Amino acid sequence: MTRPETVVILAAGHGTRMRSGAAKVLHSACGRTLLEWVLDQAVALDPERILVVVGHQAEQVRAVALTGHGKRVRCVLQEPQRGTGHAIQCCLSELGEDPGTVVVLYGDMPLLTPESLLRLCAAQAATGATPAQRGAAILTARPRDARGFGRVMRRAPGTRAGDGDVVGIIEERDATEEVRGVREVNLGVYAFGGLDLIGLALELQSHNAQNELYLTDVIAKLVARGKKVVGVVLEDEREAIGVNTLVHLSEARQELQMRILERHMLAGVHVEDPRTTFVDHGVAIGEGTRVLPCTVIRSGVTIGKHCEVGPFAHLRQGTVLEDGAEVGNFTEAKQSRLGAGSKAKHLSYLGDADIGARVNIGAGTIFANYDGKAKHKSHVADKSFVGSGTILVAPASVGEGATTGAGAVVTRGSDIPAGATWIGVPARPLVKKTKV
Ligand code: UD1
Ligand code: CA
Repeated sequence: MTRPETVVILAAGHGTRMRSGAAKVLHSACGRTLLEWVLDQAVALDPERILVVVGHQAEQVRAVALTGHGKRVRCVLQEPQRGTGHAIQCCLSELGEDPGTVVVLYGDMPLLTPESLLRLCAAQAATGATPAQRGAAILTARPRDARGFGRVMRRAPGTRAGDGDVVGIIEERDATEEVRGVREVNLGVYAFGGLDLIGLALELQSHNAQNELYLTDVIAKLVARGKKVVGVVLEDEREAIGVNTLVHLSEARQELQMRILERHMLAGVHVEDPRTTFVDHGVAIGEGTRVLPCTVIRSGVTIGKHCEVGPFAHLRQGTVLEDGAEVGNFTEAKQSRLGAGSKAKHLSYLGDADIGARVNIGAGTIFANYDGKAKHKSHVADKSFVGSGTILVAPASVGEGATTGAGAVVTRGSDIPAGATWIGVPARPLVKKTKV
């Protein structure tokens, strides 16, 4: 594998076209930010270091960049943001004297796969026998809709060596009608020889429609110096979804979602209708589990084997379903455990509930976990039977094999002994009438 020494992620822009207060790279898709998806791409290349250029909402972006990716991630501040070329200029002191091969990624391209990026690195390595002789490689695509991407100019086919090589990139806003007709677009992913990048970044000028320093201008400068630049065309156009607007974000989310679901299905999870099933990144699901339509499963949920979830279920952060547990329609669970073989099949809220094995949670049961100030936990022990419409006001507990009657309100602090039956409002032990 051709491993780059350095990866730079550009994540300083505001993302004006998103028309939202948050920096573009902080928008989330399938339970994590765009920046985290792109950081994964960088990590897959296994570089020695990753530089993240931050600017707009720098503190929040920095916090995301530095969480969970170890010491090799460093942030560089770009203030103000004067274009993608300026972003690279801001990295020069961090890049040092010889940064090796540098891969540049844009923070708004969450769908690129490690395979495509590795192909890019291999193509760059093949442009010259030694690192000093090498040129650059850029990732391109030929999508049906060019969606504002820069156009890739290639040397016209003839018979000379280097025909078909890339000679430059022209931004759509600076393009003539003829150039706009070019179908091949720049995806904003490049592999450069680090020394070339350092030298040429300083030569960039802002004579263009946006009055910015364009990183894309480095390409024509490299070619002018006699270096070879190759274009690597994506095999799967769906990787080319870049996020500039909220419409693009929804497209990217859909594609990421499909990838997540495919991964679960290949691991033996039945997903009856992928179009209406939403499973975030960071969810574990055991083999043989069935996920039925219109179900939402958020990050931080763990589901065992042979469970059933849905239709119309909502599982949130911290929920654990042990093997064979079932959660049915209009049931929401948050920070709760449902033990092996237990069922909550209809219209329930399980909030901060610790439920043992083989428990039946009747229709309409509510774990009232919030008293207006703080959240509290409730416990339901193995083999108990919680009657329909029970409200458990936390903290409360139900002992092993105990029962609550339909509509019981188990008040705060109640502790139902093992095997007992409590009924009514407020719930009290059932007293069996003796015949006279
Ligand atoms: C850029 C490319 C374009 C390419 C497209 C593909 C340039 C000049 N154009 O256009 O050829 O087709 O990406 O995705 O590079 N950023 C900074 N600092 C800045 C400006 C931008 O860090 O000063 C970051 C943004 O946060 C974003 C990325 O760079 O993650 C790309 O910026 P954006 O403004 O979206 O560039 P495009 O117009 O899409
Ligand atoms: Ca963009």
